[in-house]
Amino acid sequence: MKIPQYTVLLIVSIGLAILSCKPEPTKTNPEFTYPAEFGSIAYPNPSNKPAQAGIELGRHLFYDVNLSLNRTISCGSCHAQVHGFADHNLPVSFGIYNRKGIRNSPSIINMAWSPTFMWDGRIRHLDVMPIAPFTDTNEMGMTLPGVMERIKENSKYLNLYQKAFPNKEINEETTLLALSQFMLSLISNNSKYDQVKKGKTKFTNSESNGYELFKTHCNSCHSEPLFTNHQFEYNGIVAIESDPGRYRITQLPNDKYRFKVPTLRNTEITYPYMHNGSIRTLDEVLNKYVESSHIESNRNYSGKLIPITLSESERKDLIAFIKTLTDYDLISNPKFSEIH
Ligand code: HEC
Ligand code: HEC
Repeated sequence: MKIPQYTVLLIVSIGLAILSCKPEPTKTNPEFTYPAEFGSIAYPNPSNKPAQAGIELGRHLFYDVNLSLNRTISCGSCHAQVHGFADHNLPVSFGIYNRKGIRNSPSIINMAWSPTFMWDGRIRHLDVMPIAPFTDTNEMGMTLPGVMERIKENSKYLNLYQKAFPNKEINEETTLLALSQFMLSLISNNSKYDQVKKGKTKFTNSESNGYELFKTHCNSCHSEPLFTNHQFEYNGIVAIESDPGRYRITQLPNDKYRFKVPTLRNTEITYPYMHNGSIRTLDEVLNKYVESSHIESNRNYSGKLIPITLSESERKDLIAFIKTLTDYDLISNPKFSEIH
């Protein structure tokens, strides 16, 4: 995805507009709360608190294929609820006219806590995030004014905007704020792991052993409770010239092949894996970690990899633990789905 020049201007103008926008909670807009166990949010716009009407408008926009050039692709096409809001098991995503991107579509859950966006972290504010897919020629292929025209074509939006942003216009600002509200509401915190943490159930022996292995070998990067440390790290698995990751943005030699650490919440259902979707199964992922962590130069460069060797039963245990991070509530909750 390329970011057009005018994005910078837009960030500034949205920033200014946002300062003057404070929706009051009412009966139809009850107060939204973030789960305390995840700590303070990173979303830098406190005046855009998710509320029922804003989330609902955001949901309609998120699933609207009319907001792409040939009316075939919505945000939900590449961020599918049944796959934990990652893609439909494709290595890289297809946009309009079956055009292919270069990266695997990440799960977009728990975005409220994410300080940066994209595998290389090139976007720093959730409110401007949708501009990239809307305008990318390989994704939705639109301009923002074009998106606004498509929205104004559909009379259902009059009522939805009115409820979400009373006395405000249907414009780029309110559109982006509503999409943020929907994304902020995509919280995944009801997996078996979460139930265990709340004392409501227990791990099996195998999951428990897996958890110990996880804490030793994986937690430094995929840190609890969000299962990411939100940093750009090197795991030595897919280091290819064509995509040097964070380096593309900073040009710092030490950022070569570093990528934003993906959350492992719901990772059971977000395959295939890594920024280019080149690894198909969790078993294969573990093989790659065993391989990579035994290469001394990888360990020196990463600073966080430690040599890992897994017996057959340890491998099963670690996978059993990772599967406790699947949140069946998230993937079946009608609040987040296309139709209800
Ligand atoms: C054609 C597929 C496609 C469509 C359509 C699409 N995305 Fe994405 N999305 C991706 C890919 C691929 C990435 C990662 C790109 C990268 O890192 O360079 C991504 C990244 C993101 C991220 C960053 C996640 C993170 O953890 O850093 C967010 C948020 C997001 N998309 C939201 C949206 C929204 C909102 C829409 C609709 C306006 C949308 N996407 C439409 C494929 C898509
Ligand atoms: C040095 C930091 C680091 C450590 C330690 C680490 N990872 Fe990762 N992990 C990453 C990064 C960075 C990525 C993304 C790399 C890429 O896309 O090329 C990743 C990707 C993954 C993915 C793919 C997720 C997705 O959505 O594509 C899985 C699964 C995974 N790691 C599991 C593990 C397990 C299990 C362990 C422990 C054995 C572990 N990781 C240890 C940094 C780390």
